[in-house]
Amino acid sequence: MPQEHQRRRTFAIISHPDAGKTTVTEKLLLFGGAIQLAGTVKGRKAARHATSDWMAMEKERGISVTSSVMQFPFDDCIVNLLDTPGHADFSEDTYRTLTAVDSALMVIDCAKGVEERTIKLMEVCRLRDTPIYTFINKLDREGRDPMELMDEVERVLGIQCTPVTWPIGMGKRLKGIYHLLEDRIYIYEEAEGGARGVHRTIDGLASDEAREFLGDEAEEYADEVELVREATPDFDLEAYLAGRMSPVFFGSAIANFGIQELLESFVRTAPSPKPAKTTVREIQPEEDKLTGFVFKVQANMDPAHRDRVAFMRICSGRFKPGMKLKHVRIGKDVKISKALTFMASDREHTEEAYAGDIIGVHNHGTIRIGDTFTEGEELQFTGIPNFAPELFRRAVLADPLRMKQLQKGLDQLCEEGATQLFRPLRNNDLILGAVGQLQFDVVAERLKTEYGVDCKFEPINVATARWTYAEDEKELERFRRRAEDNLAIDHSGALVYIAPTRVNLDLAQERNPEIEFRATRDHL
Ligand code: G4P
Repeated sequence: MPQEHQRRRTFAIISHPDAGKTTVTEKLLLFGGAIQLAGTVKGRKAARHATSDWMAMEKERGISVTSSVMQFPFDDCIVNLLDTPGHADFSEDTYRTLTAVDSALMVIDCAKGVEERTIKLMEVCRLRDTPIYTFINKLDREGRDPMELMDEVERVLGIQCTPVTWPIGMGKRLKGIYHLLEDRIYIYEEAEGGARGVHRTIDGLASDEAREFLGDEAEEYADEVELVREATPDFDLEAYLAGRMSPVFFGSAIANFGIQELLESFVRTAPSPKPAKTTVREIQPEEDKLTGFVFKVQANMDPAHRDRVAFMRICSGRFKPGMKLKHVRIGKDVKISKALTFMASDREHTEEAYAGDIIGVHNHGTIRIGDTFTEGEELQFTGIPNFAPELFRRAVLADPLRMKQLQKGLDQLCEEGATQLFRPLRNNDLILGAVGQLQFDVVAERLKTEYGVDCKFEPINVATARWTYAEDEKELERFRRRAEDNLAIDHSGALVYIAPTRVNLDLAQERNPEIEFRATRDHL
């Protein structure tokens, strides 16, 4: 019997908008029995292009909270699929979610190939050597040559590809896929896959049945497969686990074609929870004592209660309701009487959870992104980054008497990672930083509805920000005095250099070689 944590497969889907992430998610949930009806997931999809639509959806918080994590059983495994926002303006959220997964599934549109968002997300995966599965989607449409697509993935994303399934035709000529390892053809019949994605199969490419099925193309296709086998490397488990090689599957999510083969292979091959780094030592998933970290904080369903859910990734041990855990940053023990697990369409109170699982903990404002929980041990998980914002605005109140509410609101929204707040050393400005414009709109809207604060965001002359560090405390202190005009304190109290221009930043770096200027800050 495998241990509980060995059964966990915790992953996220990375893709460029429109490649089919939502559709693939829905099909995976159908296989997992987490939903019964196609269309359930699609219906909740955010309209990515309009702020108003996004906020209307966000108001139905219940939906977005439950769909952030979707857990379902498959074969002997428990699969945890973590959702990531589709809109590029919320990419920070996505990056942090990627710190809580053990592997990722990359979805690529067969007509478009590797697109810009995929490149960015792959860069983040590479920082952690995250193992990647690849699904090339929309085979039912005319697309690019499969070999060319694989070459592009290798060239642009710098990861070796090894095909597991190979298309037989595409678009109108799509006949099926051939499973290179099973030596089996899966026949494509439009809209006949049904909810379970059951398709007729033919064993053996060299069989009479296969020859008959492929007709005139039989020989040519057999040659093609031969060529593919010769031109591509064999699957190498070690290279996959190190994030250097990706098994590639082809299919059509909308027709539920090719997904089951993908999922079956994924649960067999994808890694269970790995050891996790902390400030003190490496945590092994099989350890008895519970440890975990928070990678996301989200407003709860009921805005009237300002209740928020902290999403904690368990790294070791077992969670039981009623447990007492140490909230390391604030040095306090807290009893967690209830936690949420996320069974896709429903949230339920969990009876137990293991390494790899995500639990939702009710949070009344004390839990922040990056916080560590243990059964008493003094340690902090590392590697949950804050990214330097690229857009800056100054918060200006319509009614100056609402300052306290504004500060409270901003503090809480910072905890959620919805925005970043910087307070300059030399004045009382409240400077907000974001990675995308939409973040400001959402913050303004939420300040209004949740905190009753009418607030505008004015442009401000800031180009970029860098967290500053020095080995020697005294050096930092000297720098602090020298550069006071450009320094600010962030939400967590860390010192940040605020540069009006890139040139200014370059100069500051040149003039202060003893100071480290970092574009990301570990949540510690
Ligand atoms: P996303 O979450 O990555 O943004 O993609 P999503 O699944 O929403 O898919 C984007 C569009 O591509 C949708 O069409 C979806 O139906 C379509 N699609 C997904 N998988 C396939 C596939 O295998 N084949 C084909 N032909 N299309 C696919 P839409 O027109 O934007 O939405 P809808 O009107 O279908 O809901």
